[in-house]
Amino acid sequence: MFLSLRDVTKTFGNVTAVDSVSLEIQEGELICFLGPSGCGKTTLLRLIAGLEQSDSGQICMADKDLAKTAERDRNFGMMFQSYSLFPNMTVAKNIAYGLECRKWRKGEIGSRVVEMLELVHLEDQLDKQPSQLSGGQQQRVALARALAPKPYVLLLDEPLSALDAKVRGSLRGEIRKLQQGLGITTVMVTHDQEEALTMADRVVVMNEGVIEQVDSPVEIYSRPSTSFVANFIGTMNFLDANASADGKVRLGEVEISCANWRLDPSPNQPVRLAVRPEDVHFQAQQEGLPNSVMAEVVWVEFLGSIYRIDLALGGDETQMIRTELSANMMREMNLSTGMCLPVVLPAEMLWVYGA
Ligand SMILES: Nc1ncnc2c1ncn2[C@@H]1O[C@H](COP(=O)(O)OP(=O)(O)OP(=O)(O)O)[C@@H](O)[C@H]1O
Ligand SMILES: [Mg+2]
Repeated sequence: MFLSLRDVTKTFGNVTAVDSVSLEIQEGELICFLGPSGCGKTTLLRLIAGLEQSDSGQICMADKDLAKTAERDRNFGMMFQSYSLFPNMTVAKNIAYGLECRKWRKGEIGSRVVEMLELVHLEDQLDKQPSQLSGGQQQRVALARALAPKPYVLLLDEPLSALDAKVRGSLRGEIRKLQQGLGITTVMVTHDQEEALTMADRVVVMNEGVIEQVDSPVEIYSRPSTSFVANFIGTMNFLDANASADGKVRLGEVEISCANWRLDPSPNQPVRLAVRPEDVHFQAQQEGLPNSVMAEVVWVEFLGSIYRIDLALGGDETQMIRTELSANMMREMNLSTGMCLPVVLPAEMLWVYGA
């Protein structure tokens, strides 16, 4: 394994920022740390960078323990949320700086700076000061500066969050293509799930210093291993239910089958049943289908290509589910508030977690 973390813990006073984290990172992959504010993402990244010392545990690169390798000797490229360029140096000088520190030869520095500027499409900006560049351009210079010394690993802490949505969208594609082209192992911190899902090979979902799940974006979305992940990624409906026999749960008056159990329940144990909005199926005429429940339409919202519809299961407003219907389907079904109709919760799309 290229980078490996074993039981890494870091506390600040009585706060455990990173709690016994183990993780294997493969060479060339882009891995995202995703989680709410304060869950330990930056601390974990800083531990990898060597900017923080762990209380216990081990961080290895290509089987070499990094404990005794100082930050400056790790040859990791870093890029942060704030552009953090040297304000009084030109773009070219900013990129050259790290190479001068590493005692590269003058001629090599010059050609590397040009190469890096071409890579981030800023070859005509080399004599500008950072203040003369847009935010997106400054982040591209920061990226070129991080990559110039040919780092083993690229570490990015919320690199796009200071930019407006449009620039963020285009730059994330640019960073990803560049990362894949260079094949550079990259660890990126973000609290933006769209960024993580679109860019990463694998996503590490963190909560209160621990890892909840490590998986591909599709797996994280479609097979969340904990209710925290289910709730944090995308929209998920949660319903109160009770475990019953044969892989079924009791939901009010009805029993429904569930394919995906994330606990081994005792009979009648309270559980949380989870289903995504797009997985709730409307059945206009047919009542009595398996896993069908009666629902009352309590809210209809027009969102352009789709409608968002909130339903109260069995008319119970504590058991709400949010659903989505295409505009075409909506025309066909002509739903309005107050209507009651059966909906199907397909067994294979249902997840059961502990209450
Ligand atoms: N230098 C420090 N001194 C004291 N506490 C710290 C320090 N750095 C981080 N913490 C605490 O450790 C916890 C994790 O912080 P961290 O910055 O790693 O979170 P984060 O996931 O990066 O959050 P954000 O999304 O807001 O950047 C927080 O409770 C934070 O207050
Ligand atoms: Mg942070």
